[in-house]
Amino acid sequence: MTATVNAVRVPATLRGDGDGQDYPLLPPRNTDSAGGLLSVRRDLSALDGQTLKATWDARLGSREFPYRSGVWRYRELIAPFADDEIVSIPEGNTNLYCGEGMNRCPGCRVTGCALAAYAGVERLAMKHEGENPTASFKDRGMTGAISHARHAGAKVAACASTGNTSASLAAYAARAGMRALVFVPDGKITSGKLGQTVAYGAQVVQIRGDFDAALGLVQEVTESLPVFLANNINPFRIEGQKAIAFEICQQRGWVAPEWLVLPGGNLGNTSAIGKGFLELYELGIIDRVPRFATVQAAGASPFARWFENGFDTYEPQQAETLASAIRIGNPVSRHRARKIIQRTDGVVIAVTDEAILDAKRVIDGAGIGCEPASATTLAGIRELRARGVIAPGADIVGILTGHVLKDAEATARIHIEGSAARPPIVIEPTLAAVQRLLSAG
Ligand code: F0G
Repeated sequence: MTATVNAVRVPATLRGDGDGQDYPLLPPRNTDSAGGLLSVRRDLSALDGQTLKATWDARLGSREFPYRSGVWRYRELIAPFADDEIVSIPEGNTNLYCGEGMNRCPGCRVTGCALAAYAGVERLAMKHEGENPTASFKDRGMTGAISHARHAGAKVAACASTGNTSASLAAYAARAGMRALVFVPDGKITSGKLGQTVAYGAQVVQIRGDFDAALGLVQEVTESLPVFLANNINPFRIEGQKAIAFEICQQRGWVAPEWLVLPGGNLGNTSAIGKGFLELYELGIIDRVPRFATVQAAGASPFARWFENGFDTYEPQQAETLASAIRIGNPVSRHRARKIIQRTDGVVIAVTDEAILDAKRVIDGAGIGCEPASATTLAGIRELRARGVIAPGADIVGILTGHVLKDAEATARIHIEGSAARPPIVIEPTLAAVQRLLSAG
């Protein structure tokens, strides 16, 4: 394991998106001198892609800290922090449905699965990031941010959230022995996410305003007080979330898909996964970068509208959608995400809440399940196929960002009050009643 140990400390600096200047990792800062976001930079030309790939493959299945994590397995490209600074639960190692070693969904009409049939495509795999420790992809970024916070000696960490980031921060802060402060729009996050956040011991602050206002407040708080910012403005959130791209490629034998489709809210994930694929490509580990398709809910689609006008006039929006996780009207990572869409010849579209719920029904009914925001991925693939943008035989990977239990309210609305194939019923506790039920078909 000497080679592994030697390879872990790849020096990294922060580069301002606004002023192009370099900054050290400490002290943590939210923006550069021009108000731009900070990105982690490292000299990739000093690294050998083939050695890295072999190192990462050798770590597969490792029980050793921190390599058991599907983020820290790729440590060289995540962060140069010491073992005792890393806060990992561990995260990642999520399934790719229908991936190798998995049976197909019943009722498949095409090569892929029921989801592929619904979207009208033949080769579709879904990376289920709802299988992370707190049941959303946010844990990938949070292990990066809270490790950075520990590296900085922070005592208190804060975020604004539509619910998943708050649950994730609460758990990681608890593991690290830090205080967590989360700002959420009052009455606008699901009870499951609120319950999780409170259970992990965070201080929940419900603000009279939306997510965008909460993010503005937390930026002000972290700039004025000794509080660490754990939103995806933190550059190590992005580094951790990049591992989604790494893990997809590793699970597919280091072959990148043709399309990568995901939901878009604040757009950190589009930026992060895009950065991950571009780095693998630069290192010669993969020989193509997938085209990105970011899918927004129609009522929260400022990025889709910006794309439609050729990234000319950008207008924030008062967001409204039942996919509460992506109810965001002014995405902070839009400039980074725009670069990914442009660089990968990507697209951005919006889908209606109806289309989102319809797709969710299919994902849930296949025994996979996800929260509404995640179902935008499948609704988007279906829409892009219908428009002829995605070819029927294209090799597609979609991201499911959160677990079905994250939004019990929406799930109940669809499956119990709505058009469930089998709505729950109440019977007497007798064998005869069960027999009657079964004979009804
Ligand atoms: N899907 C889910 C389930 C989410 O929770 C989020 C974002 C997204 C998609 C969109 O990802 O913001 O990187 O474009 N949730 C954030 C939160 C905003 O606070 O939990 P993005």
